[in-house]
Amino acid sequence: MKAIVTGIAGTVLLAGSLFVGAVISDKILGDANGETEDATVQTQVPTTAASQKVVYAPPSIEEVPDGPMKEAILYGYELVNNTHVAADEYVGNQLSCTSCHAGAGYDEQVSSLVGVMANYPQYIGRSGSIVTIEERINGCMIRSMNGKKFEINSDELEAMVAYFAYISEGVPIGAEREWAGASNMKSVPIPDVANGEELYAQSCIACHAADGSGTGANTGPALWGENSFNDGAGMARMSKMAGYIQNNMPIGAGGTLTDQDASDLAAYILSQDRPEWANHDKDWPKGGRPNDIMDKEKRQQVKNNTIDWEQVLSTN
Ligand code: HEC
Ligand code: HEC
Repeated sequence: MKAIVTGIAGTVLLAGSLFVGAVISDKILGDANGETEDATVQTQVPTTAASQKVVYAPPSIEEVPDGPMKEAILYGYELVNNTHVAADEYVGNQLSCTSCHAGAGYDEQVSSLVGVMANYPQYIGRSGSIVTIEERINGCMIRSMNGKKFEINSDELEAMVAYFAYISEGVPIGAEREWAGASNMKSVPIPDVANGEELYAQSCIACHAADGSGTGANTGPALWGENSFNDGAGMARMSKMAGYIQNNMPIGAGGTLTDQDASDLAAYILSQDRPEWANHDKDWPKGGRPNDIMDKEKRQQVKNNTIDWEQVLSTN
């Protein structure tokens, strides 16, 4: 994990009153009439501070305080860090959440999940509705993990939420998490797939293997093939894949590739076969569907050399 940076000039966390706390409700009491199933986890919001700058200072997983939440937090950490093993009946590939949210979401640079509880529920255009943290987790389960949803009220989902609440401590509801969303390329250059293939052979195969099948969820996750994410995942979009690569890869040298190289690599990776998402037609029900989703049709167009990259990259 990269060093925790606390360097936002002159900002001091107001301790205590602004913490996001999580309380897992008592299942038995909550389920009395069977209609409160959704209320598994409640966030306590003593106060909000929308305009406050937030420092990146999540509490360590080594120092979870003793108490009723400890077990759930540690189980949640294990589920996030070792997902395809700890939740193997739900996961349809060989990835962990850590494969994209490095350090189980602790890593500030790589799709950090620190403070995530402060930003949910949230409107998501892909769903066309307001989405809770539980639904957002399940979104990654059925797309990025090519698997199944956890049941609401399941131990797994409650534990993941408990863990995210723990690493969100100190981040006020509604706070702007400056570290989130860094891996998104706004303007993606037209890619050269052949150059992407060469770059991949030079810089990526040591960890991700020549056939993209990877060397392990947390050492070099599968980038394509049956053990990778499906084409309904955010990472199957050129803007997200190119942004992620430019920002984070190769590991230890994030930020060194040009946008052009990252786009070439993304196009090469996303033109390879991967599991298909069955519900593309139901996404973005209220409009705004981006063009850069590399689904089966676009993969075929890359192979046939008929893809119109300008059109694909026109909506990021
Ligand atoms: C293949 C990569 C990948 C994997 C694996 C993955 N995610 Fe994600 N996740 C993403 C991307 C990319 C985003 C950002 C989506 C966007 O920008 O639209 C995201 C977003 C999220 C968010 C919302 C973050 C925010 O700041 O709003 C949560 C929560 C989340 N993921 C949880 C998980 C969990 C839990 C797992 C494991 C069960 C997981 N993810 C596995 C790629 C992945
Ligand atoms: C030294 C090993 C290493 C090298 C070299 C490396 N990666 Fe990774 N890569 C990882 C690890 C480990 C992760 C999991 C996330 C993390 O820990 O940062 C990852 C995650 C990824 C992901 C997100 C996970 C997924 O399944 O989509 C992509 C995309 C990716 N790497 C692309 C590349 C590309 C492209 C290159 C070459 C430019 C590269 N990586 C080079 C180790 C490596």
